Amino acid sequence: MKAATWQGKRDVQVLEVPDPQVQDADDIVIRVTTTGLCGSDLHLYEVLGPFMHQGDVMGHETMGEVVEKGSAVDSLEIGDRVVIPFQIACGHCFMCERGLQTQCETTQVRSSGMGAALFGFSSLYGSVPGGQAEYLRVPHANYGAIRVTEDLPDERYVYLSDVLPTAWQGVRYADVHEGDTLAIVGLGPIGDMAARLALHQGIRVIGLDLVPERLARVQARGADVVNVQEGDPVEAVQALTSGRGADGVIDAVGMEAHGSPGPSVLQKAVGLLPGPVARMAMRTGSVDPLSALHLATSLVRRGGTVSISGVYAGTMDPMSLQYLFDHQVTLRMGQANVRRWVEDLVPLVERSDDPLGLESFATHRLPLADAAHAYDIFQRKADGAVKVVFKPAGG
Ligand SMILES: NC(=O)c1ccc[n+]([C@@H]2O[C@H](COP(=O)([O-])OP(=O)(O)OC[C@H]3O[C@@H](n4cnc5c(N)ncnc54)[C@H](O)[C@@H]3O)[C@@H](O)[C@H]2O)c1
Ligand SMILES: [Zn+2]
Ligand SMILES: [Zn+2]
Repeated sequence: MKAATWQGKRDVQVLEVPDPQVQDADDIVIRVTTTGLCGSDLHLYEVLGPFMHQGDVMGHETMGEVVEKGSAVDSLEIGDRVVIPFQIACGHCFMCERGLQTQCETTQVRSSGMGAALFGFSSLYGSVPGGQAEYLRVPHANYGAIRVTEDLPDERYVYLSDVLPTAWQGVRYADVHEGDTLAIVGLGPIGDMAARLALHQGIRVIGLDLVPERLARVQARGADVVNVQEGDPVEAVQALTSGRGADGVIDAVGMEAHGSPGPSVLQKAVGLLPGPVARMAMRTGSVDPLSALHLATSLVRRGGTVSISGVYAGTMDPMSLQYLFDHQVTLRMGQANVRRWVEDLVPLVERSDDPLGLESFATHRLPLADAAHAYDIFQRKADGAVKVVFKPAGG
């Protein structure tokens, strides 16, 4: 089959690889009909390269049709249409029973000290072949495949694999309620979807990014927006919140924050760093890998909550505990527990008026053969690329 494979830093190539097979009795193999390109793939494309092997198959936002199943798969039939959560979870361990599927004790990648195995996600998370391919093997399929039944386009359902539960968990973890203000740092697919979900619940949203068309998309849904490169974003958010800050903040950027968010934020962020690191940052004028998180903590009001959806890996500079302690800030974070939120989301996904705008969420629908181009434009934020979905089976 054809698959999008990692070949090196910023080098994804669609190549012929062996077809996946059923290996364990509770496996299925699906023919992939739609599969997304995610900000998390960009970490593998660039900074997490050392954890990748040449030829690894990318992708973790997958749906398709069951074409093969093992003898222990009793919840699915050949031909069923399924969405595949990005993490592999068993459904019956201590963690899964508590709704912490990303910590599944059956699939935890103990060799690297990480949580549940993820599709297409480097040796840190088990080196499991991913879904940007014509076919995908799905382990623990009785639990790890969400069967969908309504005659709706793939693009209603495919975001249940990652974008929707991640955005939903981000909003839930920010502990905001109707009438509250939620600031969202980063308006890629995750921040954008979090804005849609929050606005739908009557939560006021202030979205922050530096890419004009991403700001415009979220503004068009009814959010206030702040371009972090125009003026001081902390002042802008304070001006919109009676000088107090937002009740909750989502960091939907992660460890690869781009662009300088302006001198005063840099100063504030640098003020939170320990002396030598701060000096280095001031001297070079560079933004540290935690800059989005520092910005998020500067935007939250005293007693508020910061919810981290953006991925952080590796050993990062420490946060200032004095600042967080004095401001009585709550921090929550983690990979999204997909199955935990699916039941909350399916009614919204299937509603006839498509309140979240899922059918027009993708900016690019491309054949898998265009994967190299898609990674390039998505990383550079070129050609208006916000969300790319591939159609490996045509259509
Ligand atoms: N927790 C989870 O389960 C989970 C799931 C999916 C994605 N993620 C993570 O969420 C993050 C966002 O993913 P995405 O798909 O939306 O990708 P993305 O990379 O397109 O989104 C990041 C956005 O942040 C903006 N940005 C960068 N630096 C900024 C700054 N200093 N201030 C404000 N905005 C800034 C970028 O312009 C971009 O729009 C990534 O880190 C991804 O790995 C986490
Ligand atoms: Zn993803
Ligand atoms: Zn489990």
